[in-house]
Order: sequence, then structure tokens, then C-alpha cells
Amino acid sequence: MQVAIVTHDRWARAYRTRALLNRLDRRGVGWVLLSPDQTALEIRQGAVRFLDGAGRPVAPNVVLNALYLASGHGLELIEAFEATGVPVVNRAAGWRLAKIKALSSVAFCVHGIAQPDTLCSPGAPVVLSPIALERLGRPLVYKPWRGTMGAGVTLLTRRRAVWGAVARLARRGAPIYLQSYVPNPGRDIRVVVVGGEAIGATYRLARRGRWKTNVTAGGIPAPCPVTAELGAIAVAAAGSVGLDIAGVDVIEGPQGYQVLEINAWPNYHRFDQVAGVDVADRIAQLLIERARAPRPADDPPDGRTAEG
Ligand SMILES: Nc1ncnc2c1ncn2[C@@H]1O[C@H](COP(=O)(O)OP(=O)(O)O)[C@@H](O)[C@H]1O
Ligand SMILES: [Mg+2]
Repeated sequence: MQVAIVTHDRWARAYRTRALLNRLDRRGVGWVLLSPDQTALEIRQGAVRFLDGAGRPVAPNVVLNALYLASGHGLELIEAFEATGVPVVNRAAGWRLAKIKALSSVAFCVHGIAQPDTLCSPGAPVVLSPIALERLGRPLVYKPWRGTMGAGVTLLTRRRAVWGAVARLARRGAPIYLQSYVPNPGRDIRVVVVGGEAIGATYRLARRGRWKTNVTAGGIPAPCPVTAELGAIAVAAAGSVGLDIAGVDVIEGPQGYQVLEINAWPNYHRFDQVAGVDVADRIAQLLIERARAPRPADDPPDGRTAEG
């Protein structure tokens, strides 16, 4: 069995890549790292072949989409694997919905998942400021459409700040995403979902004087029990965008849990230890399951299933 890991982390420098390779080794599963820059598609003689960095054909039993959300580069490779019928964990469509916050918000809403009120646009229509101020209240949280790790996420407290931010975005032709600020106990929750199960969670405590809880913004992880309610909202969020592996950010608002956003290839460095769960091994298990699952093409042509 071979797993192909499509990643920007070509030299396996990141903890999440190294930990996963280690668990696959322990389970005796072969793997190959495919960097989008170093992988080629050969379409010839009626067949599609994937060639690794050395030009060798690779024919994996399952593909892990480990592309970083911050970069969209290489998603076509995932789509090509899907088109040839190879099972892919974190399919391209789900990854894209997770990348664009406006689209994840739409998916959460359609699936009845609680989230803060949000107003967004691919442009920055001037009318957005008065509508946001009237309907979302203050403070407002501005987020980049495609941001991660808290970068660019800004608290807008004063009316003038809202008008100013929308006008600046309009000048830059940038998309806009504004959300009601959720009063919270100085923390949010990161839940990791693998294969439809919430396998662990951590609180992330905001540092004193800060409001963002991203670990890169100084947030401090602490153990958090996965209650039935917390697990259910995280699993529903992952399902709503179609992700097999997801890091779901949940905040405890006055009316209960609300989903802030979803990440497709979450960093589980430290999460592992604090949540007390071997995320890499759970991912390895899921990949093995998907590689072994019968594919539709495995069914006999007369429509009978393999069992019957
Ligand atoms: N609506 C909100 N109300 C209160 N805090 C928020 C809100 N949205 C985001 N935050 C804070 O900002 C952090 C970063 O926002 P998030 O939506 O997770 O974007 P990113 O993709 O940059 O991590 C969150 O972890 C949380 O601490
Ligand atoms: Mg986040």
C-alpha cells in the first residue's frame, strides 16, 4: 500500500508532516511526498500518469491533500487524482470551501450550524458600512477572505473604523468579510475532526490584553473535554464543507457554541500533547481505511455488489 502526500512541505520540515510519516512507517505503509512544484502529469496513450520529482510514475492507493490553506498552489493536482478515481482525503472542493471564509460561512448556514452574524462581499460596496453597523452591531471583526493564523483579523470598535476599513478595502479592490464580535470568556476552542469523529480539543486562552487566541498570536493551549455538544457542532461543521480532516474553531458565546472558521490541514503540533491524542496516527488510520475501501469501479459490471 502506498500513500501519496501532496504537500508544500517538500522536505518534511513541519511537525505535522514528520509525525505522519513516522506513524505510516510504524504501520508499515509506504509513502511518497509530492510537492506540486515537482510533480508532473503525463497524459498519453489513453492513460494519466503521475510522475514524482525524479520522473518515476507513482500510483498511490490513497492521496492525502496536505496543501497549506494559505496557498492555493497545486490544488489542480488533487483534482486530477480525484478525476482518475484515486481516493482523496480532503477533497479539493471541501478544501476550497474551507479556504474562503465567505464560502464556509454559507455552508455552515445552509447546514444550520450556529455562527456569528456575518456580512461579506467579493468587493467592498460602500453600502456595506451602514448595513454592517446597523445589523451586526459593534465591535465588528474584520477577516481576510483567505486568511489563516489570525493574520489580518482586526477588531473594529468605532463607527469611523468600520467606514475607514471598508473604504480602504474598496480602494484596494479587496473582498470584505465582517462579523459580529462574540463576547467570550477570553478563550476559544480548537476541535480536531478526523473521519467524522471529533478526536480531541484544546482551549486556546488569549494572552492578557489580547483578544485573538491563535497560538501564533500568543494564545495558550489548555486541555478541553470533547462534550457531546462540542463534538457534534465540530463534526457538523466539517461535514458541511465536506472535509475528512479539519480543525474547527469554536467560541463559547452567550447563546452557546458558535463556529468561527474551519481549517483543512490543521497544525497539530502541541495540540497532540495538550489534547492527549495522537492526531498523526488517527490520520494514518483513516488513510489506510480509505485505501482499503472498495471503490465503485471494483463492483462487477452487472451492478451486483462484491458481497452479493
Ligand atoms: N466573531 C468573533 N468574535 C470574537 N472573537 C473572534 C471572532 N472571530 C475571530 N475571533 C478571534 O480571532 C481569532 C482568529 O479568527 P479566525 O476566524 O479563527 O481566523 P484565522 O483563520 O485567522 O485563524 C479566533 O481564534 C478568535 O480568537
Ligand atoms: Mg482560526
